[in-house]
Amino acid sequence: MTDTVATSADPVRFPDGFLWGAATAAYQIEGAASADGRGVSIWDTFSRRPGAVHNGDTGDVACDHYHRMDGDLDLLAELGVSAYRFSIAWPRVQPTGKGPAHQPGLDFYRRLVDGLRARGISPVATLYHWDLPQPLEDAGGWGVRETAERFADYAALAGQALGDGVDMWITLNEPWCSSWLGYGSGRHAPGVTDVGRAGAANHHLLLGHGMALPALRAEGAARVGITLNLAPVRAATDHPDDVAAAQRVDGNQNRLFTEPLLEGRYPTDMLEHYARHRPGFSVVADGDLDLISAPMDFLGVNYYFPAFVVARGREAEALRAGFCVAPREADAVADDLGVTAVHRSEQPRTLMGWEVDAPAMRDLLTGLSASYRLPPVYVTENGASFSDYQGPDGVVHDGERSAYLDTHLRAVRSAMTAGVDIRGYFVWSLLDNFEWGHGYSKRFGLVWVDYPSGGRLPKDSFRWYQTVVATNELPAPPAAS
Ligand code: FCB
Repeated sequence: MTDTVATSADPVRFPDGFLWGAATAAYQIEGAASADGRGVSIWDTFSRRPGAVHNGDTGDVACDHYHRMDGDLDLLAELGVSAYRFSIAWPRVQPTGKGPAHQPGLDFYRRLVDGLRARGISPVATLYHWDLPQPLEDAGGWGVRETAERFADYAALAGQALGDGVDMWITLNEPWCSSWLGYGSGRHAPGVTDVGRAGAANHHLLLGHGMALPALRAEGAARVGITLNLAPVRAATDHPDDVAAAQRVDGNQNRLFTEPLLEGRYPTDMLEHYARHRPGFSVVADGDLDLISAPMDFLGVNYYFPAFVVARGREAEALRAGFCVAPREADAVADDLGVTAVHRSEQPRTLMGWEVDAPAMRDLLTGLSASYRLPPVYVTENGASFSDYQGPDGVVHDGERSAYLDTHLRAVRSAMTAGVDIRGYFVWSLLDNFEWGHGYSKRFGLVWVDYPSGGRLPKDSFRWYQTVVATNELPAPPAAS
């Protein structure tokens, strides 16, 4: 059977029951950082470190979603989505990262879950979107095994309190970022630069997932999965050194997560690579991989852009091959892997500097399904930041964002036609929000947030997505004039 890839001129239909959603994360939107007994997280600490976050921004106020929840739920209802992916702030539920549940924190999420259900929107809860309670970091963070055990306790408390209302549980969001950005390059909280600790964190995060799975199920959780940020990784040239470099990056970014979760083993080449780092993967204990590879109900995939790399020292060859090379920044993970990230010069990019490449998303999804026995897949994040502004008519005309979403949804649909079992799609993000190290300088929302006043304004992309959700179809885009 041949698979016809729809051109961007055709309307494209999605199957009935396809889950349409939007996503956010606690630290990025909630604000109210010390309200009602919330504890301190590693992002509260990191964002106060001079130079760590653009403009010295913090999540102290963010979108003030904590106080504006009802209005934001009404926006979701107006958008018409069938599901909303939010994250639970661990320091609201356990301010010190251990001990009994803190009731005011649970009450907030209870209101959120009930508010979603009252509006006919399915709650999808992420337990860990990067806001580790600071006392746990002080005790070793994800570098130590106890943190995985504490995570399972927290998962049980959340499952007990909210399990009757939440339809899908995502244990971790993008554990690659938590481990390799958090403890390796130090670009994310807690800002540690130690490759050995990053490797250990990689394992303890997965172990936390593996321990949380039965804990959640014991509390009657409906469906449980994990969200990974995966990217197709390509060599900029076909030189064997660059091919080997791409293999290492693929190992670090993708296979260190997919193989243990889906096949119950770490990739041998990566274990060999990290063998000289301590503690690294020496922390893996008997039985851990059985926990980690227990069957999940779904796999969440976040996709933004493909990666291109050359072996360190071959940057000039990349330039000759039509790539551009960003000015060198210290990055312990890339240094250790002996690679340099490059970009295709001609490829459009978003404000983040990320290449726009929808066909690469299709390749990622079909490639995953060819390599592994996958549970049903949900695209749990996809979206883009552009230089939005409110026009003289008071509206944000973000046609670029709608076009980005359109082409990527076509890629998703095309992967489905090719046989990948994809059940839903969540736009990142409902709201403009705190974009981690970039502070408030990068907007990803379908809804504009006026930070000084907290006002919300749906952008053109909100109206576009509203139609997609309502019709289950991507309309044919207007012909370019
Ligand atoms: C992902 C994160 C999400 C957001 C988007 C742009 O890596 O999960 O919180 O920052 O990138």
